[in-house]
Amino acid sequence: MNTPSLLILAGDGIGPEVMDEVKRIITWYGKKRDMEFDVTEDLVGGVAYDKHGTPLTDETMAKAQEVDAVLLGAVGGPAYDDLDFSVKPERGLLRLRKEMDLFSNLRPAKCFDALADFSSLKKEVVAGLDIMIVRELTSGVYFGEPRGIFDLPNGEREGINTQRYTTSEIRRVARSAFELARKRSNKVCSMEKANVMESGVLWREEVTWVHENEYPDVELSHMYADAGAMQLVRWPKQFDVIVTDNLFGDLLSDTAAMLTGSLGMLPSASLGVPMENGRPKAMYEPVHGSAPDITGQGKANPIACILSFAMALRYSFNDGAEADRLEAAVEKVLADGARTADLLGPEDGTPISTTEMGDAILAALDASL
Ligand code: IPM
Ligand code: MG
Repeated sequence: MNTPSLLILAGDGIGPEVMDEVKRIITWYGKKRDMEFDVTEDLVGGVAYDKHGTPLTDETMAKAQEVDAVLLGAVGGPAYDDLDFSVKPERGLLRLRKEMDLFSNLRPAKCFDALADFSSLKKEVVAGLDIMIVRELTSGVYFGEPRGIFDLPNGEREGINTQRYTTSEIRRVARSAFELARKRSNKVCSMEKANVMESGVLWREEVTWVHENEYPDVELSHMYADAGAMQLVRWPKQFDVIVTDNLFGDLLSDTAAMLTGSLGMLPSASLGVPMENGRPKAMYEPVHGSAPDITGQGKANPIACILSFAMALRYSFNDGAEADRLEAAVEKVLADGARTADLLGPEDGTPISTTEMGDAILAALDASL
């Protein structure tokens, strides 16, 4: 196979800072593991808008379609709050997801032992937690038509978004959840609001159909999404894989993230259908946002972005052993006490910088050889 190609879109806010650390890790793999990547960089989000008047140019979109994997930092910031909806930084991200057809968004929430004390929940509730949220990413209320703000004859205005799902959209994301479950603890919990929404009724029926016809060996349960949110903070270890729609997945994954202590820890993978070379269309990004309040201060935690690259090794480059190596290096530095500011309480001593966290992980990688 040719040298695998990566498109880096560092984006806005802390995106470039955390991505700098990922670039060092990529270089390390080239030098020490003989794994070369063909890396290109480009703009997305506010920085793309500043330069081109759009959060994602057609040229960048075309490049994203051609590479083996896209690595994205973060998009958005207060400078862009008043922009028209169509050119907001977030539209760049949504366009990538939609046009690459990245329907399956994997958001693991794993509590590192060293951080179990740091969660806002009791230690026994989160210690050893390892769940995977599979969020549908290309449909639902994020993309449904009609949408817009309309003038009514009586002088009022009306805002409309449409929640819609089709059979095939539900079945394909359900399959990806069942496939993952088979490699984990073999349990899927599907979440929707079938008690109030027709799209939720269809969701439940189609997930059940896929289960009965294709994955009867996997344990399947259903929950209303509000009850699911409650169960996630009550006893999260009851879950293995959770599969849910685009909007509920957005909310539930932020909730799950906080179980682990910090949003600065959580990676994600967005996967589509296989390309000609057999690799899935793919984009990897941290779950956290652009964090304008700490941008440019060396405070950002690069771990979510680094673990996103580990997911790329696992899901795009089929190298579970190297993904394990990188994840173990992160676990090691946390166990040794390395903490960026987001991982420390007010009385907990001095944090290390973004670059120092990168240094520590590189040293742990060296030590793993
Ligand atoms: C996420 C984010 C995005 C979303 C925003 C930035 C558009 O919150 O990836 O969870 O709502 O999907
Ligand atoms: Mg979100």
